[in-house]
Amino acid sequence: MLEEIITHSAEETTSWGREFSKRLNAPVLVLLAGDLGTGKTTLTKGIVSGLGAASEDDVTSPTFTLVHVYGRPAKVYHADLYRIESFHDFETLGMEDMFTAPSVAILEWSERFPLKSPWPQIRIRLEHLGGDARRITVL
Ligand SMILES: Nc1ncnc2c1ncn2[C@@H]1O[C@H](COP(=O)(O)OP(=O)(O)OP(=O)(O)O)[C@@H](O)[C@H]1O
Ligand SMILES: [Mg+2]
Repeated sequence: MLEEIITHSAEETTSWGREFSKRLNAPVLVLLAGDLGTGKTTLTKGIVSGLGAASEDDVTSPTFTLVHVYGRPAKVYHADLYRIESFHDFETLGMEDMFTAPSVAILEWSERFPLKSPWPQIRIRLEHLGGDARRITVL
């Protein structure tokens, strides 16, 4: 079933993410697709805080670090594959640890790199609708 909501601020997207997180049971891959600035990281703040793995403010974009891990033991992995170019990057950046124990793995730009994982996947698409409006679709 396709689910679609429209948010009108970053706060609304984060709070939808907090609600959405209640449906997630590890292990699961959450694949976030959408153009630059549509709110993938903003949504992740809500998901991570909703899961109680870190506070919203502690969730930042893994654009350069590629992967952030929240919770002890690791509860949520948050990766950005925008700059991933090869499987070698995966191995050197600690991303392979992601699949050693059940977690919620949130991936931005996962469409850039084919990821093989037996974990169930939820795909979420984010789109600009002009101004601060965003359409979020759960696929
Ligand atoms: N309705 C909204 N939902 C989410 N973010 C919004 C909304 N309205 C405005 N914004 C702003 O848009 C920006 C979204 O940035 P964010 O880093 O979350 O995007 P992103 O999709 O992760 O981008 P990137 O592809 O560069 O990683 C933030 O500055 C946020 O405050
Ligand atoms: Mg981002």
